[in-house]
Amino acid sequence: MKTLKILNKKFELFIEASEIYEMVEKLAKKLNQDLKGKEVVFLGILNGAFIFAADLIRKIKIDCQVTFVKMASYKGTLTTGSVETLIGIGDELRNKTVVILEDIVDTGLTLENILQQIESHKPAKILVAALLFKPDACVRDIKIDYIGKEIPNDFVIGYGLDYNGFGRNIPEIYKVTTT
Ligand code: IMP
Repeated sequence: MKTLKILNKKFELFIEASEIYEMVEKLAKKLNQDLKGKEVVFLGILNGAFIFAADLIRKIKIDCQVTFVKMASYKGTLTTGSVETLIGIGDELRNKTVVILEDIVDTGLTLENILQQIESHKPAKILVAALLFKPDACVRDIKIDYIGKEIPNDFVIGYGLDYNGFGRNIPEIYKVTTT
């Protein structure tokens, strides 16, 4: 079993690069079929989705636009709480079919927030493509239209996913070990 250590945590190989390749290929095939004739904007969520988006988009055969946004914590001056706001969104989503590209959906709270903010830009339709989904962790009733793979509720890294900023460059996906 291939293992590695990042900071204080140990990880073991969970999804091989070849399996990730097949997952992305399957998603792209479905998207190419479903989105024919639509005006499509792919919207990658930074930082985690940068590798997934780059690989997926190179397999998309329909005409499309590609853009990226980032969730940023904004501390209000009047409140002590912080609000997560999407930055980088322009007018390009209006009346388009927007396909959100997410690395992983865990509790679903981030995606719920993103969906609400994108809706205010009046797209014709919003679809969600997530490379990984943890159904046992999800606390929100959110429809994910395209899922690469459902995984157990374990912390994973690699292929864009990080642990405290490290591990994004690893080509495979590793999961944390309990030992
Ligand atoms: P959620 O709001 O709990 O669904 O979490 C979504 C975000 O948390 C993802 O976009 C990731 O950035 C991060 N995240 C959730 N689970 C993991 C994981 O297992 N590894 C790395 N990042 C994760």
